[in-house]
Amino acid sequence: MTDNSRGFTSSIGAILAAAGGAVGLGNIWRFPYMLGQNGGGAFLLIYVFFVIMIGIPLMMTEFVIGRRSQSNVVGAYRTMGGKHKGWMALGVLGIVAALLIYAFYSVVAGWTLNYVVLSCSGQLNGLAPDAVSQTFSDFSQGSYLPLIYQFAFLALTGLVITMGVQKGIEKVSKVLMPILFILLLVMCVRSLTLSGASQGLNFLFKPDFGKITGKGVLEALGQSFFSLSLGMGAMITYGTYIRKEDKLLKTSTWIAVCDSLVAILAGIVIFPAVFAFGMDPAGGPELVYIVLPNVFNSMPFGNIFSIVFFVLLGIAALTSTISLLEILVAFAVEELHWKRGAASVVASLMVFAIGAFCALSFGPLKEFTIFGKTVFDLFDMLTASYIMPIGALLMVIFLGWFYPKAGVRDELSNGGTLKARFFGIYYFLLRYVAPIALIIILIYGIIG
Ligand code: PHE
Repeated sequence: MTDNSRGFTSSIGAILAAAGGAVGLGNIWRFPYMLGQNGGGAFLLIYVFFVIMIGIPLMMTEFVIGRRSQSNVVGAYRTMGGKHKGWMALGVLGIVAALLIYAFYSVVAGWTLNYVVLSCSGQLNGLAPDAVSQTFSDFSQGSYLPLIYQFAFLALTGLVITMGVQKGIEKVSKVLMPILFILLLVMCVRSLTLSGASQGLNFLFKPDFGKITGKGVLEALGQSFFSLSLGMGAMITYGTYIRKEDKLLKTSTWIAVCDSLVAILAGIVIFPAVFAFGMDPAGGPELVYIVLPNVFNSMPFGNIFSIVFFVLLGIAALTSTISLLEILVAFAVEELHWKRGAASVVASLMVFAIGAFCALSFGPLKEFTIFGKTVFDLFDMLTASYIMPIGALLMVIFLGWFYPKAGVRDELSNGGTLKARFFGIYYFLLRYVAPIALIIILIYGIIG
């Protein structure tokens, strides 16, 4: 089923909405923790390289598929795959990815809600760095609070989707995301003036390739996909929104630039503070939550900044959870003919059933590991480092080798009305560079 009423009214609107959907915990929570675990500067360089060489072409690819098919992930491959129904499996892989990502993402989104509450009640005020870390451990290792906050976030997202007000949220986020950006700038100033800040800057910007492993390269690729919501069909959905006359190269480039800037800014806030407060950059998923309260505590009106920051981070997370749930709901409604409300409730409950294992991974289920990883870490790794790159590989093979070239050219040149000067380069990247690079990176990542 197509729904053209979802088109945006301006190209800047489409860019901001898709950028709002892409910017989220991936930039502010996941990027610093991944970079910290992979030795710093070299990871940043590799990450940026992947965003430009693979991320932007892949985003264009998803937009082409979405705008052309005007359909949900599975429907897109059904329509464009013609007789070859097997391609629909690639859509199903996207659905699985959305389920797994949503399962652990909602945990971290829940943490954000908890930090709004903690900031509002002043419980983080004036704490020493050790006490800040202790507060996080006490909360995240609990047996019910992480579940309650996760559930609250799932319910909030479900409500937005059921009431069909995601457009409203996207409008609000268009205003709020620039505010988040400015807030990050202010926080940068504070972080950079802490004593010992330069060590953090060195860590972030001075590449030491000796610290990079095959796994690290794969994680940089995975991070670029995760942050840009690529390789699982989220951007196919946004592609259905984009107007026929918008330029896909321009749109994709802008989204990638905005998204990476937010991630780098987050790094400039976090790492000087990590070193100034004597913390471990490789601290893992809690990094941002144990570092930032120290930054706020060293700022005038820090408590207010803290409240505003965590509220905005929550909204950034919400636009991402909306796009994750929308993937599941659009599939259930358009392919399985469910009612929207029912689809949203059932999908959210399913996510909660799996996600509860992730929420408890830091406390009661800490010892419950699969391949040596907690359920949280497993889902996080599995989706970003494997499912998204594999999804991306199959997607570029689909559009580059299976779908007629004329169709791709038609979509990128907006029905022949644009010159699409870069079509040759794009098509070369799509057909050769992206698949070969993805295969090599995956193999290197797996063997070490
Ligand atoms: N890109 C989002 C973020 O950075 C996460 C996400 C991934 C959202 C995949 C939707 C699909 O927070």
